Amino acid sequence: MGERRLADRAAVDADSVVVLDFGSQYSRLIARRVRELHVYSELLPFDTPWSEIVARKPKAVILSGGPASVYEAGSPHPDPALWTGRIPILGICYGLHLMAQALGGEVVSFSRKEFGPAVVSVTEGDRLFAGLEPEQSVWMSHGDSIARLPDGFRPTARTDSTPYAAAADPDRGLYGIQFHPEVVHTPNGREILRNFVVGIAGARQTWTATNFIASTVEEIRRRVDEHSRKTGTDGKVLCALSGGVDSAVAATLVHLAVGERLICVHVDHGMMRKNETELLRTAFDQLGVRVIVVDARERFLRKLEGVTDPEQKRHIIGNEFIRVFEEEAAKLGQIDFLTQGTLYPDVIESATSVKEKAATKIKTHHNVGGLPEDLSFQLIEPLRYLFKDEVRAVGKELGLPESMVQRQPFPGPGLAIRIIGEVTPERLDTLREADWIVIDEIKAAGLYRSVWQSFAILTPIRSVGVMGDGRTYANVVAIRAVTSEDAMTADWAKLPYEVLARISARIVNEVPGVNRVVYDISSKPPATIEWE
Ligand code: XMP
Repeated sequence: MGERRLADRAAVDADSVVVLDFGSQYSRLIARRVRELHVYSELLPFDTPWSEIVARKPKAVILSGGPASVYEAGSPHPDPALWTGRIPILGICYGLHLMAQALGGEVVSFSRKEFGPAVVSVTEGDRLFAGLEPEQSVWMSHGDSIARLPDGFRPTARTDSTPYAAAADPDRGLYGIQFHPEVVHTPNGREILRNFVVGIAGARQTWTATNFIASTVEEIRRRVDEHSRKTGTDGKVLCALSGGVDSAVAATLVHLAVGERLICVHVDHGMMRKNETELLRTAFDQLGVRVIVVDARERFLRKLEGVTDPEQKRHIIGNEFIRVFEEEAAKLGQIDFLTQGTLYPDVIESATSVKEKAATKIKTHHNVGGLPEDLSFQLIEPLRYLFKDEVRAVGKELGLPESMVQRQPFPGPGLAIRIIGEVTPERLDTLREADWIVIDEIKAAGLYRSVWQSFAILTPIRSVGVMGDGRTYANVVAIRAVTSEDAMTADWAKLPYEVLARISARIVNEVPGVNRVVYDISSKPPATIEWE
């Protein structure tokens, strides 16, 4: 599997930078920042063997920060071959400490721990700080510090509390910084990373959507053709289209590669938002992609009758989805490949975790397209090296409609987990209309892309109201809008009062059976983004 992944990536003519993950909460961000420079970068576990790193032909290696101390027993260390490998290295915080310790310097616990903003003074002309002012605002987060530099290194920047805020041995291509260039609180962090990746390591900035599309399409075509030749089959590819950007982009790439041999199936489980299935159908019609829309709305509703428990809803929808999808696949004859919109964060998640992941299950996530593992297809995952924003850039380049490319995340079980209590056709209609208004107003206010998600929830509460001269006793709808980087944590969005007022007024006026609107002001944690 490892080899195949490598081959997929190597298909793109792009220089790469390997980031070794020593457990910093910012590790992923480093890889993202490098990619923003249009240089491909991959996050690998800290103990990846040198041979595997070299096989990727990286232009440079970046060592992330991490919570451990390099002198502690059991702290994570890289393959020592790294130090003599003649590939430029940038050590960030813990990464700098590793470098200093491994090459004969000394790292100690720091009496004046530094957390938060600091100002470094660049003390010596250094390529890492090329083009920057001598005083730089940076973000520090360390409890250890260098007491003595290894031979060959010289300090290049200092702060009031440490003479070694940065150090370098340019002859060996080794650079280290005590601060974090990857976070936004280091305003020139991007320039510093650019100086290293492009200036020092000489990586070409060719990782673009256009290049990615050309080489990925070529690679998929080669793989499917080769398989057909060897097995004498048609090389048919199946794709479950959810309506989200990931599966849409994956399907479009595969379509460009194999044309008619791609068959997309969209299971309409009836929990989609207003017009979503139609939008999907039109968009793919225009692209000439064959989509089978399975109208399974009644089937799902029947299964959900009387069900109020959130986990039970999730299970029913997940299982039923698989059943419907399998039935459709069986009608299509021999299928050789299945394409999925797996993204890089999912790949990293399963590969690099330094710490044990929390074992408590919060809720059962189900991806539409999250299929059982025993299906006998080979997988095509064209997005497994992309971050979400890169997927959007590719989608845009492919000509997918803006509404699909920029669509906010939407859970696999759909509106069912935004209806608290039983899911009925009437309640789905109520929520769908209210949700439509939320999105419409958020878009009109130009906020759709700055919030992570914005939607309505139909609560089981009814409240008393007055309309005209009459008493009403009707549904309460809640509005949820959150800001977030990755959905792991989230804050409630501080929407302007005028926007909230418009949403509220429109919902009570336009959606029958709703007389009250409330705004959810909980962050995650302790709440989650969805209500169920
Ligand atoms: P929570 O509610 O756990 O949600 O804070 C985090 C993010 O995940 C989305 N979500 C799902 N996505 N299948 C999905 O594909 C699911 O079953 C599912 N449940 C929640 C949620 O919308 C948010 O973006």
